[in-house]
Amino acid sequence: MFRLKTFIVCFVWIEFSIGFLDYVSCGPEQVHISYGAGPNQMYVTWLTHEQPSGQPLVEYGIQSRKYDMRKFGNMTKFHTSYSRYVYRVQLEDLKLNTTYYYRCGFEQEFSNEFSFRTRPLDQEHWNPRIAVFGDMGLKNGQSFPFLKQQASKNAYDAIFHVGDIAYDMHDDSGSKGDKFMNEIEPIAANIPYQVVVGNHEDDKYNYTDYNSRFTMIDESSGKMNNMFYSFNIGPAHVIGFSSEFYYSTQYGIKQIENQFEWLEQDLREANRHEIRSERPWIIAMAHRPMYCSTADDDDCTENESILRKGIPIVNQYGLEDLFYKYGVDIIFGAHEHTYERLFPVYDRKVYNGSTDDAYNQPKAPVHILVGSAGCPEKIDPFITYPKPWSAKRISNYGITEMLILNKTLIRFRQRDTTMNGAMVDAFHIIKGRWN
Ligand SMILES: [Fe+2]
Repeated sequence: MFRLKTFIVCFVWIEFSIGFLDYVSCGPEQVHISYGAGPNQMYVTWLTHEQPSGQPLVEYGIQSRKYDMRKFGNMTKFHTSYSRYVYRVQLEDLKLNTTYYYRCGFEQEFSNEFSFRTRPLDQEHWNPRIAVFGDMGLKNGQSFPFLKQQASKNAYDAIFHVGDIAYDMHDDSGSKGDKFMNEIEPIAANIPYQVVVGNHEDDKYNYTDYNSRFTMIDESSGKMNNMFYSFNIGPAHVIGFSSEFYYSTQYGIKQIENQFEWLEQDLREANRHEIRSERPWIIAMAHRPMYCSTADDDDCTENESILRKGIPIVNQYGLEDLFYKYGVDIIFGAHEHTYERLFPVYDRKVYNGSTDDAYNQPKAPVHILVGSAGCPEKIDPFITYPKPWSAKRISNYGITEMLILNKTLIRFRQRDTTMNGAMVDAFHIIKGRWN
């Protein structure tokens, strides 16, 4: 009965859609996973266009196609100028350092099989390998082939997509987002896909599409908040936050204050002696950067950028002082369609660790701009004469690989994804502390 009903609904939908040369599937699709509240949790999220009968569930186990466990989840419908059904299942009590195989869907209709590996018991001595990038579109998504190749080789433990996803997910009544999420499914259904919000996620409905499609869990509270949250990975504490609050003020300015207060509380906790000695690295990521050397009029080209110095005139909620005060080590940004590595910088001054080795115990945060994954707007031009804090600039498509080796060493490599991942920049940071 269920299958017949589904078939009729889907058949009618496809007939309707073909008129617009569009593709619409009806079963579970756009499967992706993200971290839950702690290393023995994982969230599975997927989507359908129509509401199926039956509860959403994940079947899973530690052997391929032998699912001896199942967990039911919940459904939410989001509605803007179009609607979708989103399903979330929280897997918990997972064994650490274990590969799980799973499929998701409904009692009579399931996705393909995917798998993921949980984090190890000894988080402090784990070396997570992370791919970091922003600004990847469905069109001109130059880094897709390289990322898929790397994912198929289990080269990454996590993915950080630093905003501007699909260009734009809400376009064509959400079908741009559907196609993008299906395109990344071979990556994101097997590797936790952690995201932050970008300006291209503004769907004119206060980021409803973005907030509905993803499941970012704040580890300490266990609550979902796709706009700002934090989690731990190996010897690092990672904070994802919204730069867009500072620019989308049509949705209210209270959210800037709310986020700022949360950031301070989160950073204060991460700096408690016993916590920071266990996880010395603090990594922050948001879509828009505080600094850039791009030849456009974006906020980061200004000496007194809003994100860095706060709301003009009242000078409140600037993030650079906050991050400096609490010893944030690395700040990822994107938005500028370039790769740019900065020397350690605070208040526009370079604070190198040493003259010969800039990243040896730096005295200020290191900003890295990773907005060159590939989007319809292509690559942005640089200004001819960069400021002294600009260390390396690359005008080609690529992604950044971050290997957190231990409590004192992180290695970075920039991969040119148009040259099969050729390494075009490499550097490492030796942990320092300036306060
Ligand atoms: Fe952007």
